[in-house]
Amino acid sequence: MAALIIAFTVLAVLPLVLYFINPYFWEDFKFAVTLIRIGVRLNQIGKKFYSVLDCFLDKVASHPHKTFLLFEESSYSYSQADKESSKAARALSGCLEPGDTVALLLGNEPMFVFLWLAAAKLGCTAALLNCNLRSKSLLHCFSCCDAKEHIVKFGFLLCTLHRHGLRSHRFSDVSSSDLKAAVEEILPTLKEQGIRVFILSEHCDVEGIESLSDKINNASDEPLSPQLRANLTLKSPALYIFTSGTTGLPKAAVIDHDRIWKATFLQFMVGVRSDDIVYINLPLYHTAGIFTAGVSLFVGITIVLRRKFSASNFWDDCRKHNVTVIQYIGEIMRYLCNTPKVKISTKDHKVRLAVGNGIRADAWAEFLQRFGDIRVCECYGATEGNAGFVNYIGKIGAIGKEHFLYKVRKQQILKEEPVRDSKGFCMEVPVGETGLLIGKIGKGTEFTGYAKNKQQTEKKKLRDVFVKGDLYFNSGDLLRIDKEGFVYFQDRIGDTFRSVWKGENVATTEVADHLVMLDSVEEANVYGVKVPGHEGRIGMAALRLKENMDFDGKAIYQHVKNCLPSYARPRFIRLQVKMTGTYKPMKMKLAEEGFNPAVIENPLFFLQDGQGYIPMTQEIFNSITEGSLRL
Ligand SMILES: *[C@@H]1O[C@H](CO)[C@@H](O)[C@H](O)[C@H]1NC(C)=O
Ligand SMILES: *[C@@H]1O[C@H](CO)[C@@H](O)[C@H](O)[C@H]1NC(C)=O
Ligand SMILES: *[C@@H]1O[C@H](CO)[C@@H](O)[C@H](O)[C@H]1NC(C)=O
Repeated sequence: MAALIIAFTVLAVLPLVLYFINPYFWEDFKFAVTLIRIGVRLNQIGKKFYSVLDCFLDKVASHPHKTFLLFEESSYSYSQADKESSKAARALSGCLEPGDTVALLLGNEPMFVFLWLAAAKLGCTAALLNCNLRSKSLLHCFSCCDAKEHIVKFGFLLCTLHRHGLRSHRFSDVSSSDLKAAVEEILPTLKEQGIRVFILSEHCDVEGIESLSDKINNASDEPLSPQLRANLTLKSPALYIFTSGTTGLPKAAVIDHDRIWKATFLQFMVGVRSDDIVYINLPLYHTAGIFTAGVSLFVGITIVLRRKFSASNFWDDCRKHNVTVIQYIGEIMRYLCNTPKVKISTKDHKVRLAVGNGIRADAWAEFLQRFGDIRVCECYGATEGNAGFVNYIGKIGAIGKEHFLYKVRKQQILKEEPVRDSKGFCMEVPVGETGLLIGKIGKGTEFTGYAKNKQQTEKKKLRDVFVKGDLYFNSGDLLRIDKEGFVYFQDRIGDTFRSVWKGENVATTEVADHLVMLDSVEEANVYGVKVPGHEGRIGMAALRLKENMDFDGKAIYQHVKNCLPSYARPRFIRLQVKMTGTYKPMKMKLAEEGFNPAVIENPLFFLQDGQGYIPMTQEIFNSITEGSLRL
């Protein structure tokens, strides 16, 4: 009897004790169970290969009539999506063999999803090109994975939008004619490389571009033979996603099937359920977009796809389609908070979960206050990285939490380089201090690297970190972990900055490379500056002109407009007589100095939309910092 009483007392007191030891015990515990279940499932998938496509086909069999995709006025059931993708696959089957790569260059529309599925059905890999890339950068994407050095070859295919042009918008400033022009520009080189180019339309009058829509319409919707995918394994590439990474031209991050599953599970972990309706307004060629689409295949949910983000239509769309899950990047949350307050209650919607990355604490608090009780689930993970977290607690400002099953390794850093001790090993930072995130590369946490870019892949690896012979992935991100284990994002190091536009990474050296191509420019130093009220940074260039050359704001503008996507174009330029100091510290100093004409003595210029670079005035500076001039 006494034993029973003691047992009961212990049981009653235990939760209390646990709470005092760790107030998040229950959430941690639930999360641990999810992690273990996912581990078991991944193990099963590894034993008998099962792809996200197989999962989709199973959902088609179990609920063919459930809505899969809603887009503008059209709606596709699971069965219709299956048939559409089979038709596309059949239209392409003559020119693709299993193992080939198909490059997709198109905006958010159902065909994007169908072509992705079609590529998977043919046992091919889809390379998702960023619609903002042009000329050299765009061409570079093709040479990232060519036939000679890689087993994977870029089969061909470039699709452009078949619709009327899109209105220019900060989250999607490309139109179908823009895309077509971008492709025509590089067409001769594509031809040389034996890449076939298709366009999603019934006819095409451009020599060398074939029409595809007519072939798709003619094709049968019979299922394709699973034999085409017989040789795939968890290690086969499923997607290439292009990232600007740390330096230079875009790199193709190899997303293998294993990684797709992990990312899919990651979003599933945050609590997406099969009856959810997910709203996708980020570009599908981005990790965020495609993985959200991936998760829908896994749990069999409904996707509401939007061509581009629109703050003013956001909640109307959510209400119209009974959206329950939204995805975001930091800027989206800020735009939503910045929309004018209207009469109808902004809390009148069914959204219960927001999944994304990059929301800052102040915007987060305001978002909750304005739009109601929505669980904001921050996730962290680089496209190509091997480490990631989820803030499953919902702690404002954090990007994740350490866990007894998931310890975050952190190491001390000083500015750009990891600090090593006298024996040459790295040190972990004390709790509460900022450190560089690194992820151990090993079984289960592989770093798939970049296609055909050994040098860049190697650059992301750190060796002999804690013991001789160990190997880590260098994320390039500075994080801080508090004593409760919450992880906070601090900054990004290296030669990139996260642009306030669309959350894209901008490789500063790539922008500088384009600038020095100008006749008048001798030297260029590109960096990101902070702007009040914005996440991320905005591009700025310090230029040294050639002797006897004048600054021609119009010519420079024409040049950057031709070769750089809008988010990468320097918004500010400062002219310098000489570039002093070593490169990186110089950049940090310049970035700190910002763009205030009252502080900077050098001539300053501002990129005025449609006009070019005009002299920067105190007035412009004030309107930017006050927020009346939107960048
Ligand atoms: C589509 O099918 C029709 C009728 O079978 C045929 O005449 C036409 O050439 C086909 N078009 C294409 C592009 O295959
Ligand atoms: C699978 O691999 C085998 C052996 O390498 C090869 O003969 C076969 O053609 C491949 N099948 C496909 C669909 O690629
Ligand atoms: C949204 O939900 C409401 C009530 O639950 C329902 O009446 C309505 O038909 C739903 N709308 C859509 C588009 O499913």
